[in-house]
Amino acid sequence: MSVMQLRAKRVVVAIFVAVNFLSEAPLALGQKVSPVAARREQVQAVVREAYDKFRSDTSGKNADYIPYLAQVDSKLFGVAVVTTDNQTFSLGDIDYSFSIQSISKVFTAALAMEELGADKVFQRIGNEPTGRAFNSVNAVVDMPTHTGNPLVNAGAIATTSLISGQNANEKWNKILNFYGKVAGEKLALIDQVYKSEAATNAGNKALSMLLAKYDRIYADPFESVDIYTKQCSVGVNVVQLARMGATLANNGVNPKTGEKVIKSEDVPYILSVMMMAGLYDGSGGWAWHVGLPAKSGVGGGIVAIAPGKGAIAVFGPRLDEAGNSVKAQRVIEYVARKLDYNLFSPASFGLKAGATQ
Ligand code: DON
Repeated sequence: MSVMQLRAKRVVVAIFVAVNFLSEAPLALGQKVSPVAARREQVQAVVREAYDKFRSDTSGKNADYIPYLAQVDSKLFGVAVVTTDNQTFSLGDIDYSFSIQSISKVFTAALAMEELGADKVFQRIGNEPTGRAFNSVNAVVDMPTHTGNPLVNAGAIATTSLISGQNANEKWNKILNFYGKVAGEKLALIDQVYKSEAATNAGNKALSMLLAKYDRIYADPFESVDIYTKQCSVGVNVVQLARMGATLANNGVNPKTGEKVIKSEDVPYILSVMMMAGLYDGSGGWAWHVGLPAKSGVGGGIVAIAPGKGAIAVFGPRLDEAGNSVKAQRVIEYVARKLDYNLFSPASFGLKAGATQ
């Protein structure tokens, strides 16, 4: 080895040691830090600012069409950022397990893509925004695909029906285990949420029968609704949810376990659905203001993905008219703006405002 090569090698080793020293969680060999990732202190400060700024915001109201959700303490509030190099920044009610609700739809769609390939999922479900409420019957009737996309209730129930298994229990366990791998921790059903929702889900059963009329459901309709209801009742805390998002941000590799759980080629498809339909009829405004693929749930969670950088998850039970947590939208918008996460902004890939190259 020449003197020059030896020097270059020393410099590389010195940089590697310095980077590991600065980050809380040491990087695994070969794990990359995005060159435009925000610094640790900056992320910490921004999360704190957002938490303080929106802590006493009382806009919106809890979902009440699922009785359990109506009685969740609306003051609960948690924020977490998990980066692709497995650093975690969190504040507030970070241990509280809330139901994942519609955020589950993203990960069942990912599992369906793992099993069938993205093309088949696209053919059988589609990927068009409905511009309607998440549980719209009219969208099923009016849209040529009937299913719309995997994130509205009809499309999500049809997506759940694509998951293979000998029986309902096997399908459900496969879904739950897959969520656990994406979160990097075992997850569990919140039984009270499931019971509350199963007793009041006539609307979803009606959607499933309508899909059967159009041949757009691929297993027994009511069995599929029941598995879907269970997947919506899975409990997550805000850190687990942020890590699920960070797995997508990290090209399908869980940043905590290092396990590849989602195929890289599926990640852009998943993010495209989230961008178009993740906040339902609020998705256009969200793309305008925040510019990040995201998904909301009526349990009060939202997770937003900054590809290559990390994910922001916020939990606050009060929702707007479209069924999206008000606090979560405000906090994510604030954090994303301060950290230059907006995908459509040149600053997100390192260009300064007004720069020509
Ligand atoms: O099927 C439902 O209505 C609920 N389990 C999920 C809806 C939901 O989370 C919509 N999201 N904002």
